[in-house]
Amino acid sequence: MAKSSSKSSRSAPAASGVRAPAINIGISEKDRAAIARGLSRLLADTYTLYLTTHNFHWNVTGPMFNTLHTMFMTQYTELWNAVDPVAERIRSLGHAAPGSYAQFGKLASVPDAPPTPPKALEMVRILVQGHEAVARTAREIFPLADKAGDEPTADLLTQRLTVHEQTAWMLRSLLEE
Ligand SMILES: [Fe+2]
Repeated sequence: MAKSSSKSSRSAPAASGVRAPAINIGISEKDRAAIARGLSRLLADTYTLYLTTHNFHWNVTGPMFNTLHTMFMTQYTELWNAVDPVAERIRSLGHAAPGSYAQFGKLASVPDAPPTPPKALEMVRILVQGHEAVARTAREIFPLADKAGDEPTADLLTQRLTVHEQTAWMLRSLLEE
């Protein structure tokens, strides 16, 4: 058996024959793995909520059509733009980002959109619950990032929490007198 003297032996040599060095950013391997697992759940939740919001943009009907069709477009665009920084933070921590419907189905706490389009205000109710669920996922990961001194993840989570809680409030307001 070849002598394996360093952690860098884990990565295969690139075509050039130069091995990538082991990740050494001041966060332990165990903490990076735990944070990446949490961020994978956040990615799955964000992607699922993105798809549901786009679905509702397509399928909304009724007197509020114009308002909701436009509002949902703003929201799904924001969610779509959010998945990339979450996935790339997972990569920066040294892990693979999930990116298939099968993986997202296993990881997400947010349910898929119902197969039959609901009525307009039921769509709004589903999205309130979706944004709150994603906020709960982001909040669960925060102590891990904080404890590990992972400021970029803490910053990302703070930004996502702000968006999800504000969007939940705006949607909720449509259901209140
Ligand atoms: Fe559209």
